[in-house]
Amino acid sequence: MNPKPNDAPSAVDSSRPQERVPPIRKVGIIGLGYVGLPLLLAYARKGTKVLGFDIDPHKPASILAGRSYIKHIPNDSVAEAMESGFVDATVDFSRIAETDAVILCVPTPLDEHLEPDLSYITDTLDAISPYVHAGHVISLESTTYPGTTEEEVVPRMEARGLVPGKTVFIVYSPEREDPGNPKFTAANIPKVVGGMTPACLAAGVSLYSTAFETVVPVSSCAVAEMTKLLENIYRAVNIGLVNELKVVADAMEIDIWEVIRAASTKPFGFTPFFPGPGLGGHCIPIDPFYLTWKAREYGVNTRFIELAGQINRGMPEYVVRRTMLALNEQGKAVKGSRILILGLAYKADVDDMRESPTFELMDRFVALGANVSYHDPHVPVIGPTREHANWKGMTSAPWARETVTAADAVVISTAHKATNFAELAQWASLVIDTRDAMRNVSGAATVVRA
Ligand SMILES: NC(=O)c1ccc[n+]([C@@H]2O[C@H](COP(=O)([O-])OP(=O)(O)OC[C@H]3O[C@@H](n4cnc5c(N)ncnc54)[C@H](O)[C@@H]3O)[C@@H](O)[C@H]2O)c1
Repeated sequence: MNPKPNDAPSAVDSSRPQERVPPIRKVGIIGLGYVGLPLLLAYARKGTKVLGFDIDPHKPASILAGRSYIKHIPNDSVAEAMESGFVDATVDFSRIAETDAVILCVPTPLDEHLEPDLSYITDTLDAISPYVHAGHVISLESTTYPGTTEEEVVPRMEARGLVPGKTVFIVYSPEREDPGNPKFTAANIPKVVGGMTPACLAAGVSLYSTAFETVVPVSSCAVAEMTKLLENIYRAVNIGLVNELKVVADAMEIDIWEVIRAASTKPFGFTPFFPGPGLGGHCIPIDPFYLTWKAREYGVNTRFIELAGQINRGMPEYVVRRTMLALNEQGKAVKGSRILILGLAYKADVDDMRESPTFELMDRFVALGANVSYHDPHVPVIGPTREHANWKGMTSAPWARETVTAADAVVISTAHKATNFAELAQWASLVIDTRDAMRNVSGAATVVRA
């Protein structure tokens, strides 16, 4: 932890002497979730005063108590930040007035018609507007379609009599995170920044240079907004492609995982993507549809995005069908069978269950009359979710021989390192493996790839 407060005025871009970059002594972070909390810690580590805001009182209270509420962020990191004296957190939005810059990290989900729900952004902007003052830097980090900063942030600031690039500095800077990947922290991932004007961009570069090792300025907010969507669409489309190839390879009795490993030996021109039971997480299943929606305004279709979405959304059904056929081979029906699903979090070794395809699998198996349970060491109990309220309160089955042997089929949806697949191979009668987790283990279980 660097104990020196960063209250020196930021550098001014000398190539633009008419544009004054405001000094940033205290940064406000709004929305203290998976994005906001690491960002708050990154500023504190660099000795910048940081004030966190959330409408959920539990989050500021945990931070003030030096406790983390996100599994992959250790308690010590939060406790250390609190002890540094650089961190404060509140639910009182009038304290926006104390800050020199605010960074919005609030959710951007889709509504039930797969259309962008910007209400968290607009509610936040409406809540902070009365307290924004001349010289404030306002940065949007929530993932969204190109044009959001200009259409939603700018008019609200102008309504307050503030002029972008002169009395208020408006930027967009997408978040990049790989939860659970120990190689990257918020600070060492390059940060793309776009501004509404050159002065806004200079202010954004100054804001992020204090916490990030590398800042990548781009020519506009729309470029920065589109950059984030390209990154996530690239993943969604490539995962869709490899999921389609998995179905083809399964039909041909070819091991798609071996194919991907072999192709990965090509030293150029190939990046591996891996199949699975469907897309999960806050980003990849959602963000591409922000662009699809906006593209319609321009009369343009996003066929790759929609096709990949269709294939990826079809994967849970594919896994259910493979399970049904495998049970059938053993003379059993899904109806009345006991199905244990391993992994509720959407990716390995994290506790984030947002948009997890496991929910979709559980819903489908239940609809077919199965008795469903799950085991996930990272999700001991299912908390509230936006779309799967029916599963709230269910607890993870204990990892024990009796749990596994009692199941007619065990479906590996997420392969956490903490799961003992060797024991699974010994104890289970039938394993449906969507993650290639059973490759190096052997036992009595029949293993079916799906
Ligand atoms: N999680 C990731 O890995 C990731 C990566 C890149 C980008 N993003 C994007 O970052 C944004 C935030 O995602 P997240 O994963 O941190 O979400 P999150 O749900 O973990 O956290 C959002 C926080 O905002 C709070 N909040 C909601 N409305 C608010 C309001 N009006 N005022 C103040 N706080 C409010 C919530 O209580 C919550 O604590 C989204 O747009 C997401 O797409 C997320």
